[in-house]
Amino acid sequence: MLKGEIILKGDKSITHRAIMLAAITEGKTKIINPSNCIDVQSSIDVLNMCGSNMFYDNNQIINTSKIYKNPNNVLYCGNSGTTARLLIGLLFGQGISAVIDGDKSLRKRPMDRVLKPLELMNLQYTSNNKKLPVTIYNSDIKSIKYTMDVPSAQVKSSILLASIGCESPSEIVDNFNSRDHTERILDYFNKKNKKLSEFSYNIPGDISNASFLIAAAVCIENSDIIIRNVLYNKTRFGFIDTLINMNADIIISNIKDVCNEQSCDIRVKYNPDITSVDILSENIVSMIDEIPVYAVVLCFAKGNTSLINASELRIKESDRISSLCSHLLSGNVNIQELTDGFSIESKNKLYNTIKIDSDDHRIIMASEIFNLIISGNCSGDFTDKISISFPDFYNVIKRVIK
Ligand code: S3P
Repeated sequence: MLKGEIILKGDKSITHRAIMLAAITEGKTKIINPSNCIDVQSSIDVLNMCGSNMFYDNNQIINTSKIYKNPNNVLYCGNSGTTARLLIGLLFGQGISAVIDGDKSLRKRPMDRVLKPLELMNLQYTSNNKKLPVTIYNSDIKSIKYTMDVPSAQVKSSILLASIGCESPSEIVDNFNSRDHTERILDYFNKKNKKLSEFSYNIPGDISNASFLIAAAVCIENSDIIIRNVLYNKTRFGFIDTLINMNADIIISNIKDVCNEQSCDIRVKYNPDITSVDILSENIVSMIDEIPVYAVVLCFAKGNTSLINASELRIKESDRISSLCSHLLSGNVNIQELTDGFSIESKNKLYNTIKIDSDDHRIIMASEIFNLIISGNCSGDFTDKISISFPDFYNVIKRVIK
């Protein structure tokens, strides 16, 4: 069983944004409780190549210099789509010319979704068929009115960060309600188009990382955990709302305001009677990163479920529909791949663990949670791969598993 209290490092999405804003801020900035993952390190590294001076100091990231120069080398974003897409917008707005690249997985992911609106703002660039590497050139920037045609907070954020360099603000219509952290952090400083000055910013625990532990506690007999100081934001709460609809024993308490976001404590107890429910398409965006671990919970719930309208999953760090299906199939789950999702038929009892064969951090962690539920243990040590988003994954589990 899982028992005890957990406190997590700060939310990765928010940390990326806080770092990007710190990088264009005069004076010393301090980000408190940042994420310590590899993706965030990628953001720090590329911005330091443009002249910032950002470093970890205990549980903080400090920056003492604003970005000001064209980098001498390629800005390598590793596996991080958020770094690449937000960076293109941010640097464009600051008049910096650069080459942006990434690893094998990131090079396959679409960049046209950010290049299209930024081109309307007058971005001059070359690319590899609208994929990385992308070279951006210093050019005059103008604001736009833009209606989002994909459910992507990264696109929205790239436009908003670019717009900091415009005379007047851009207007974005996001009918998908994708995560709103960029809007919130910009509102917090209330400086959408002005110069930012010295700030300190406090980040609640990572809700996506919390989701792995929540899933395990929901499914493992006698579990009772409390995760303190987690991000509480409705654009990220789809997984937890869905679990509550499935009859999971989850209590949210201690909601507090923190730097224009909110935090909460989440108590989760095992419940043998969780039952699958249908998910509305419009709720998928608020649980997009949690769908791999949500699929794991479905394996142990009563009833059958189909999840559709989730084709965005095919263009994440891996094709998550296909990799999720092959992994769960190896655990003998009755899962069927659909064009834009999957369906799962519940079985009475599952016995087989999953053989993990993926480089995708979230597919690996979801599979490890499945294995933990089935066998009481994680099956391996994929620390190097899961550190992309959650370096403390195995340590936290070790601490609460009894
Ligand atoms: C993120 C947005 C989502 C999410 C990703 C992080 C962000 O991607 O999947 O892990 O920080 O803005 P999309 O914007 O492509 O949906």
